[in-house]
Amino acid sequence: MNNPTESTFSRAMGTVALRWHGSRLELLDQRLLPAQECWISLEGASGVARSIRDMVVRGAPAIGISAAYGVALAARNAVSGDWKAEIRQAIRELSASRPTAVNLFWALQRMERVFDSCESVGEAQTRLADEAAAIHHEDLAGNLAMADHALTAMGLSADNALPVSVLTHCNTGALATGGYGTALGVIRRLHEKKLLTRVYADETRPWLQGSRLTAWELMRDDIPVTLNADGAAAAILAAGAVRWVLVGADRITANGDVANKIGTYSLAVLARHHNVRFMVVAPSSTVDMSLTSGADIPIEERDGCEVREIGGVPLAPDGVPVFNPVFDVTPADLIDVIVTEKGVVRNPDMAGMQELFG
Ligand code: MRU
Repeated sequence: MNNPTESTFSRAMGTVALRWHGSRLELLDQRLLPAQECWISLEGASGVARSIRDMVVRGAPAIGISAAYGVALAARNAVSGDWKAEIRQAIRELSASRPTAVNLFWALQRMERVFDSCESVGEAQTRLADEAAAIHHEDLAGNLAMADHALTAMGLSADNALPVSVLTHCNTGALATGGYGTALGVIRRLHEKKLLTRVYADETRPWLQGSRLTAWELMRDDIPVTLNADGAAAAILAAGAVRWVLVGADRITANGDVANKIGTYSLAVLARHHNVRFMVVAPSSTVDMSLTSGADIPIEERDGCEVREIGGVPLAPDGVPVFNPVFDVTPADLIDVIVTEKGVVRNPDMAGMQELFG
């Protein structure tokens, strides 16, 4: 994978979800978008863990990157003689923030490996900050590489390629990553190459990542987007309005099953029924080869108030029981291609995943 130039990076770094300042981490509060752009400044790991749990920052890669910076902050704040115990406690607290996105655990394990080889708190402070920044940088570089791999996999890298319309679910953009985005990064690249007619963006109930975040990101970049209710996706696919469904992932297992935002599975069934291609775009930090199938993925269930109300406005009778799993699993056989920075897996299965990640 060739490292993109600084200019490619700065061009890609339009919208950002997080800013590292060496002694503090700033997060754009995604709960308040698009109405307000409010940055929260954090100087400790507990604040980062709380921000992940409360979805100030969300999206699998951005969760991993934030957690890594959280460990770096813990090292900076380690004051007691037992700096190792303090950092270990911070890692435990961060790992308990959300269960499904494996990027969180991948990043914490990577930080822990560095931490275990540190002899002094001073060394830990420097090396953990460097490692967190490396995780951040690599994520952006990976997103830029995935955009190229995806266009090739879509058969759109030829000069005479015709523009396409696509549909996407949730938010997989700069807000959910180290910048540029995964599935939304592919959409940005299609637009840059004048190969995009229109994006349909599912609103993505109940937390509305599609309407509040994806539509916001795309309009800031003048990318043609139409927002739709989740229930309208079937009609859009049936009408033949799109050629591809592009989504991200929170965890991909050894057999190619994919956990992603609730509603992704039904989109995959619809796409197969209407002969629309289905692509998953995710960095290799989202691949969990330790799990054999999607049935093993811990699926987060969040509070029912996320469904019962919006911004404090009741949408349902008080106290009505709610089932609110925030992710579902799409079986590998409904996926046409998985795109990662390391390459692509067509018609994913155990053998294909093993070949690339074994
Ligand atoms: O609950 P969220 O907003 O963290 O869920 C995010 C998603 O499901 C994304 O599609 C996934 O994390 C990939 S983000 C590049």
